[in-house]
Amino acid sequence: MKFLASLSLLTALLAGTVLRAAEPARTIEITANDQMKFNLAKIEAKVGETIKVVLKNVGTLPKEAMGHNWVLLKPGTDLNAFAQASMTAKDAEYIAPAHKDKVVAFVKVLGPKQTGEVTFTVPAAGEYTYVCSFPGHYMLMKGTLVAK
Ligand code: CU
Repeated sequence: MKFLASLSLLTALLAGTVLRAAEPARTIEITANDQMKFNLAKIEAKVGETIKVVLKNVGTLPKEAMGHNWVLLKPGTDLNAFAQASMTAKDAEYIAPAHKDKVVAFVKVLGPKQTGEVTFTVPAAGEYTYVCSFPGHYMLMKGTLVAK
């Protein structure tokens, strides 16, 4: 009986996984502008959900002066340490290689009128901070993804 119960639980879990994988990603559009603002400060998500973030830089200033990326960090990441180390990582989309393990997903640095996207699965419950890690932006360009 115990074995059968485990087996049916396993089957249910597998079925859930297959169903989930078949669901299309939910698209969340985020804009970034020359005023160093994202248009979205909060995203609510379900654990295991597939999300596609489409980032649009709606500004006009050059990429070197006002580029924007979108970086989703694991819960508990030291934001200041991450952002300060990443300031000099221009050749790595402003994500410091030493801190890459703290990144759940990211959209590369975009210049004016450019669009980028990333698709990821929400790994676990918690509060995930997202920022633009272009030098000097993270204090203003910041939001939270809450996963339940
Ligand atoms: Cu930015």
